[in-house]
Amino acid sequence: MPITVEEYAGPHRDLAWSFREVEHSERLLNTYIDLGRVWVARTDSGEIVGHLQAVARDARTWEVASLALVESVRRQGWGRRLLEHAAEQARQAGASRVIVSTAAADVGNLRFYQRCGFRMTHVVRDAFTAYQGYPDGLEIDGIPLRDQVWFDRRV
Ligand SMILES: CC(C)(COP(=O)(O)OP(=O)(O)OC[C@H]1O[C@@H](n2cnc3c(N)ncnc32)[C@H](O)[C@@H]1OP(=O)(O)O)[C@@H](O)C(=O)NCCC(=O)NCCS
Repeated sequence: MPITVEEYAGPHRDLAWSFREVEHSERLLNTYIDLGRVWVARTDSGEIVGHLQAVARDARTWEVASLALVESVRRQGWGRRLLEHAAEQARQAGASRVIVSTAAADVGNLRFYQRCGFRMTHVVRDAFTAYQGYPDGLEIDGIPLRDQVWFDRRV
């Protein structure tokens, strides 16, 4: 399916449905959805099928704060395309590093980021707690949603 990547000019909240593909805490989502810049993946009929949000954390570091594709277009290279696009934008803006985090329980995502050139930096235990607004008892493939893995990549 032909898909293009472009910066989203409207309010990020228009894309809350896509952010919710990956964020299970509404409280947390509200703290960051308006930040930074967002790129979307769009089909040739104009439908948005995914997004990437990047937030500058300091002069040299951009964080990929949110990334998701709708299920029907996953595993076709579009996650990687969005990440490569963001890495290039970060480089052009003078950053030297892109960071990202995911759930340790999501083994597929751990593979995805490493296949896209990211390396692990550290683990934050118990990042996905009820205190942060995550429902109790969430699991991914039988693994409790609990710890958070951080990655980085030079750009
Ligand atoms: C994670 C996500 C963005 C990946 O995007 P994608 O378009 O499906 O990934 P790509 O097709 O670009 O895959 C790039 C590589 O990662 C691998 N990969 C992607 N998802 C994977 C998974 N779930 N399990 C194993 N490998 C995976 C691909 O096989 C490919 O590897 P290859 O180079 O060996 O062929 C997408 O699956 C998604 O939206 N998931 C739900 C939301 C989410 O978890 N977002 C990330 C939160 S941190």
